[in-house]
Amino acid sequence: MTSIVDLDRKYVWHPFTQEQTAPPPLPVKSARAASLFLEDGREILDMACSWWVTVHGHSHPKIAEAVGRQAASLEHVIFAGFTHEPAARLAEALIGALPRPLSRVFYSDNGSTAVEVALKMAWQYWRNKGVTGRRLFLAMQGGYHGDTFGAMAVGRTSGYYGPFDELLCEVAHLPFAPTWDGDAGVAQREAMTLRRIDDVLERHGHEAAAFIAEPLLQGASGMNMCRPEFLSAVCERMRAYDIPVILDEVMTGFGRTGTMFALEQAGVAPDLVCLSKGLTAGFLPMAATVASERIYESFLGETFYTAFAHGHSFTANPLGCAAGLASLEVFKEEDTLGRIARITASNRAWLAELTQMPGVTRPRALGSIAAVTLGSEAGDYHAEIGATVRAQCLSQGVLVRPMGNVVYIMPPACVTPEELKRAQGVIADVLRNTAPMYVR
Ligand SMILES: Cc1ncc(COP(=O)(O)O)c(C=O)c1O
Repeated sequence: MTSIVDLDRKYVWHPFTQEQTAPPPLPVKSARAASLFLEDGREILDMACSWWVTVHGHSHPKIAEAVGRQAASLEHVIFAGFTHEPAARLAEALIGALPRPLSRVFYSDNGSTAVEVALKMAWQYWRNKGVTGRRLFLAMQGGYHGDTFGAMAVGRTSGYYGPFDELLCEVAHLPFAPTWDGDAGVAQREAMTLRRIDDVLERHGHEAAAFIAEPLLQGASGMNMCRPEFLSAVCERMRAYDIPVILDEVMTGFGRTGTMFALEQAGVAPDLVCLSKGLTAGFLPMAATVASERIYESFLGETFYTAFAHGHSFTANPLGCAAGLASLEVFKEEDTLGRIARITASNRAWLAELTQMPGVTRPRALGSIAAVTLGSEAGDYHAEIGATVRAQCLSQGVLVRPMGNVVYIMPPACVTPEELKRAQGVIADVLRNTAPMYVR
């Protein structure tokens, strides 16, 4: 019989993969809690939450049961002109968990569509109000927001979109002020950065249709963190120019940064929030763009012309909504945020040890995420060390996906102290062994 890998190699095209040089993919048979189980019987600790989607761990029985129950009664229904209990109840729960003035949930399918929807809503908001001069999006340098066209445009500086550059719409990118543990110069760097942001706003503030940012943590461009003070100072400036703020919580949402949403730590109430990944705890592809009442109301009118003419076949899929609702219950029942706080403490102690090693710099921890930079000061996505660390960790049963010379760990909330210690130990050993590659 043809093996799964042979079939895959013959017929499948994988994401973010150079198919010519990548090693064969590993066939996974099942997954439970923090572990993946391969066809060949090996167990791998998933310390990347399978592209940042798993929240409570794989195949959580309560969520699996809720999805199964839902599948037996209503698997899908068109969401224009119809509704259903899981969608309405999940929307209520999300609005309850987010700050006012966020008040309306628009469902879609993945993180990129959540962002695309937010950008389109902000753009049309101004058109619906009869304002035509707001034609520019503002975004943070290094921000990543997904792979569709609007998302690529605002995430242009994350460095992934070279071949598409000439197709992307106009965006002004604002400087970001990263920080890390023990960073003494942060307040000064932030003040300088805010002055540069003020300059951009003086020139372009009145032309801006919206500002988008990943709150507190830029994930895909290298786990760069900023202080809540910086985020709230930037958002305050946007308010002064009446620029709608979009916070992309696709990665940071659902406990990842230690609070349910990262925006809570900055005390920011945006006009639009993008959610996906952890929304269904990693069970089903689903997203939501949550809008403030002022955005929603601008779409109301007597004709279809001002309506939001956007939708996806699988909008508000009942299985995804059922998973989302069950996941929110698990948050309460298992004190998921408490578990994440314990992971943060363990990660901080681990980082303190790691940074004793030469060449390991910029330790940073937030919620369940901990990261270091190897060698050079800045993140370098193409640094060879990333692939080496990944391969060596994998051979010892630990899945991590360094971004070039940025190595990070992101365990699910269910990880046991023993599993976490084991993963941290494997990564530390690998960094020790590979030091000649990054210590100059
Ligand atoms: C902050 C952020 N926004 C948007 C996206 C895009 O999400 P998706 O891959 O589900 O389209 C990602 C994916 O990593 C992300 O991290």
